Order: sequence, then structure tokens, then C-alpha cells
Amino acid sequence: MTTTPSGRTFPDSFVWGAATASYQIEGAVKEGGRGPSIWDTYSGTPGRTLDGHTGEVAADHYHRTAQDIALMKELGLDAYRFSIAWPRIQPTGSGAFNPEGLDFYSRLIDDLLEAGIDPVATMYHWDLPQDLEDAGGWPARDTALRFGDYARKLVETYADRVKVWTTLNEPWCSAYLGYGSGVHAPGRTDGADALAAVHHLNLAHGLGGRAVREVLGDRATLSLTLNLHVARPDDPTSEADVDAARKIDALANRAFLNPVLDGHYPQDLLDDTAKVTDWSFVQDGDLAITHTELDVLGVNFYSTQRVRRFTFDHEKAMADGHGASKASAWVGADDVEFLPQPGPYTAMRWNIDPSGMTELLTGLARTYPDLPLMITENGAAFDDEVSADGRVHDVQRVDYIARHLEAVGQAMDAGADVRGYFVWSLMDNFEWAYGYHRRFGIIRIDYDTLERIWKDSAYWYREVTRTHTLPPVTAAATLAG
Ligand code: FCB
Repeated sequence: MTTTPSGRTFPDSFVWGAATASYQIEGAVKEGGRGPSIWDTYSGTPGRTLDGHTGEVAADHYHRTAQDIALMKELGLDAYRFSIAWPRIQPTGSGAFNPEGLDFYSRLIDDLLEAGIDPVATMYHWDLPQDLEDAGGWPARDTALRFGDYARKLVETYADRVKVWTTLNEPWCSAYLGYGSGVHAPGRTDGADALAAVHHLNLAHGLGGRAVREVLGDRATLSLTLNLHVARPDDPTSEADVDAARKIDALANRAFLNPVLDGHYPQDLLDDTAKVTDWSFVQDGDLAITHTELDVLGVNFYSTQRVRRFTFDHEKAMADGHGASKASAWVGADDVEFLPQPGPYTAMRWNIDPSGMTELLTGLARTYPDLPLMITENGAAFDDEVSADGRVHDVQRVDYIARHLEAVGQAMDAGADVRGYFVWSLMDNFEWAYGYHRRFGIIRIDYDTLERIWKDSAYWYREVTRTHTLPPVTAAATLAG
């Protein structure tokens, strides 16, 4: 391992935060009048998550908000990025709002403010009310309209205290993993549905954004969080591989950036996907709605991708007994192959390549020079252990975070306007299809006792929030508890 740089200093105004999401931490899925979400259904279906884990208890944050806010305060966080569970606010996704759900987040917000921590609220981090899925889910236009009503209720209720609003977290996952590959809830696999979901999520962003603007005007900081892909061509001199990277850029990045920031869908995306859908779900006037100006773009970054043009060998596939494989290729990118990346890797088998962070941020700054950026998620899962001294010496996580912060700093040196960094995650939590088998927290959760244990990364991050300077990675293990 090469030595990780240390000593970089960030501006005083730089926001230090941590992020979580409702379904991943709250538990209490049947309490407080909450309705079922697609993640309850999906995780409750045998075979969908590792060992059948569900979010039923999760980190029990619903019952431990006071304790968790105390941890955040001790960490010196300026801001906390959390998401609001739609099925707590509106159990069926339409109609009556649930006062108990509204109160839960109201208290959370009050307690954060009381602790001197800015609430950064995400309206939707994947826990769609099940009733809306039953009515068609994100491929159905009505879901976007329902989101607009829900969003308006949120801003009307909390506008006096919450100024930073993120409409959606990673609509790429909601659309392509939820409706394309089916590895996330609701687990459907239909390319045309996935692309309809892309559009309706963009529309939902616009409707939610308008609600924020109408209620809060200029006092709002409106954002959207995307997991943009850094997809590099395997052979940069191969036209075919460069074109494979362009395709993924269109599907994963410009399918969201362009309708929101520029008011159109990229022509190459429409062309690439023409055999899957004619995009007739985009109605007159929709792009004016999706094109709701952002105050800041939320960027989630974990790893990079390497792609090449894939030539399908039909005969070989038939001989190998995979005759159906081509039929399952989704959303028009059936000639793109994602290649294994060189390591090192995290426990997710995601490759560690901080240069991708710098590349992504400087690229965004070039395309959208006036758009401030915020790292709304970055972090790593490793197989942590509690040592004999009672501590979790997660040096790999510290190293990962340090390298990525250095990469953010390098992008800022090159002119990217990055306003802050939220580590994923404040605490270990329900990592979707991987259940509790992947730990991303800087605070450990003991899932038997629900005890919170500071990892070395938490002590190290506290130094960062205190000094705005990156301490040496090696210091983490000896920082005082
Ligand atoms: C992101 C999600 C977040 C978490 C991290 C590891 O895609 O937004 O909920 O699962 O990945």
C-alpha cells in the first residue's frame, strides 16, 4: 500500500457530514402508523436478500434517535443527511397523511437543530409505499404525481426548519436495479419499464423541486443526488470501446443530468434504446418540469467501471446452455460488457480508485461550471472485527476515506466547486440485497445488542471535522476515545 497523503486542509465553510437512509437504519417498520414499502415486500420474499435479512429492526434508529444525534454531535458533524420514509408520512402513498410519521421527523429535525447540526433531508431513498407499486410503481406516471403531493406536504411541514432538500437519491438504482435487473425492490425485469421509470423519476424530481421553490423560494437549497458512473473504455484507442463508454454515459449519467439541468433527453440515448421503447411516456411539458434548476448537485461516488464492446457469440452461448442470456439483456446496452476491475477492492468487490472521484468532479465542473457540488455519499464496506482492546481498527476504511478526500481536494484545486462531504455511512446498516453482511459505518452496530461502537474511522473523522485537515491514516488507531 502506498502512503496515503495527509495534511490537506479544506476551507472553513466546507460542510462535514454523514449520511444514512430511512429503510437502512430505522427499523420499526410496523410502528407509528407506517405503511409497507417495496423494500419490506422485497426483503420479505425468500431468495431476494442474503440470508433473508430485512429492515425490520435495522439499527433501531427509530427508537434511538437521541442517542444517534448525540453521536453525531460528538463527531462534530456540521450536517446530517437522512431520508424520510414516504410510507411513514403517507402509508399508502396517496391520500391521508400520518401525523405520527410527520411528528417523528419533526422531532428528529428539532433535535438536530438543537445539537447544532444542519438537517439535510432526502425525500426519497427507495422505500416506495407498496400500494403505489401495486398500482404500477415508477413505470407508471401517476407515481410521479403522487410524489409531487408528498413532497409538497414535506416542505410545507418542515420549511421553517429544513432548508436543504434533496428530492431523490440515486434514481439510477430505483429505475435500473428496481425495474431492469431486478436486484433491488420491487425486483422487476423489463427494460421498457426501467426507462419509463427513469423518466417518471426525473418528473418526480421536477415536481418535488417545484414544491420546494414555491414554498421556500430563494431560501431553499434544492438538490438531487446521483450516482454518476465513471465508465472508462477498456481500450481507449478502440472506437468500439469508446462507444460502449458513451452508451453507459448516456444511460447512467446524461439520462438524469440532461433532463434536469438542460431540459432534454440526449439524442444518442433515445437512439440507443429505440428497440426497447419509443419514449412516448415523455409528455408535452414534462421537460419543462424536469428542468427545475438545482442549487447543488449531490454526487455519490464509490468506484469506477471499465467497459468494452461485447460481441455476443450466439452459438457459444447456446452450446453453454445460456440460450436465454441475450433475451435478458436490458435497456438497449446489450452489446456493452462490464469488465472486472483491477484491485484493491472493498468487501463489496468494488474497486478502489480515487482518481475516478477527481475525474468525475472535474468533468462535472467543466460541463456545468456554475453548479456547486456536494459529495453526498462516499465510503467503504470492509469485514470489520472488534479487537481484543475493544476497538475496531478499520484502517482500510480510514485509508479509503482519506484517499477520496484527497481526490476531492485535488478536484477543488482544479476549480471544482465542492461544498462538502458526507461519509457513507454514519453507522452500519441494512445494505439492501446484502442485508447486514456489509458494514459501511464509521460507527459499528452490534446487531445482537444494538450497541454503537466507535470505529477508528470515527475517531479519525472527528479529527477531520475539528481541524478541517486530513490527519495521517496511521494516527487513527491511537486517537483517544
Ligand atoms: C448507495 C446507496 C446507499 C448505500 C450505498 C453503499 O448506492 O445510496 O443507500 O447502500 O450505496
